[in-house]
Amino acid sequence: MTIQQFIKENIIKLKGITDIPQKELYILLGFVMQKDFIWLTLNNLYILKEEYLDTLNKYVELRANAYPIEYITGVASFYSEEFEVRDGVLIPRPETEILIDKAYEILSKISSPKVLEIGVGSGIISTMLAKKIPDIKIIAVDINPKALELSLQNALKHQVADKIEFRLSDMFENVQGEYFDMLVSNPPYIASDFVLPKNVTYEPKEALFGGIKGDEMIISMIEECKDRNIKYFCCEMGYDQKEVFMKEFLKYECEFEFYEDYSGFDRGFTLEFKG
Ligand SMILES: C[S@@+](CC[C@H](N)C(=O)[O-])C[C@H]1O[C@@H](n2cnc3c(N)ncnc32)[C@H](O)[C@@H]1O
Repeated sequence: MTIQQFIKENIIKLKGITDIPQKELYILLGFVMQKDFIWLTLNNLYILKEEYLDTLNKYVELRANAYPIEYITGVASFYSEEFEVRDGVLIPRPETEILIDKAYEILSKISSPKVLEIGVGSGIISTMLAKKIPDIKIIAVDINPKALELSLQNALKHQVADKIEFRLSDMFENVQGEYFDMLVSNPPYIASDFVLPKNVTYEPKEALFGGIKGDEMIISMIEECKDRNIKYFCCEMGYDQKEVFMKEFLKYECEFEFYEDYSGFDRGFTLEFKG
């Protein structure tokens, strides 16, 4: 079977799964054959070796069952950079780029900022902040040891591992007595009864579900920031949680701003405690 025939035969299998079935098939071909897109299109009459075909068919089958392509290729593009991704750790979402920009806006005005990230996952937030801010120090925690391994790997890949300390911690449990200018987090914020789309079911539940209502972890973080004198809190949230957090903020002397994602849904906030 040639590359061209492989594309023609399999495109239908991915049509209900992705808006870009042809592109994804080229990604899989490139990944398996270690060739770039230009080579693949210039050599579309190349006859695929049996060993390539076996692997490709296995991957198409997985993808046809909505298994994320990032878990197959082991990489995701985020903030125009490449990050390692692996099964058992949440895949970066484009909207989290906005959270980084919001945190950066504040941190760029603080000299030698100290930041805590709760729920580091693949490390995208801490790594990007460390790349953008030369004199930053970050403590990044997660309850998932796989996430800590992967985020260290990504920090090393982007040469910022010296600015980030990774720690296994359930929320603030292993972060005691340290000073931070900011808490940044993209925590789990989905309600426990929400039915996930099939592709998302392959991702770890502890990265997605934030409690019965979904807002519990964020409310607890707001309270902890106040108690621990952390002046700024930048956080991603669910599209329907603005009202709940607004009510929380009104309990404190603070300034806050909500922001939307690329689709126009409420997606997060920045909070500054006063006094
Ligand atoms: C939505 S993911 C975000 C991952 C990454 N920061 C990102 O933006 O892609 C939430 C992360 O929080 C971690 N997490 C969940 N509960 C936690 C807890 N109690 N303490 C620390 N981390 C937690 C999960 O393991 C997961 O890596």
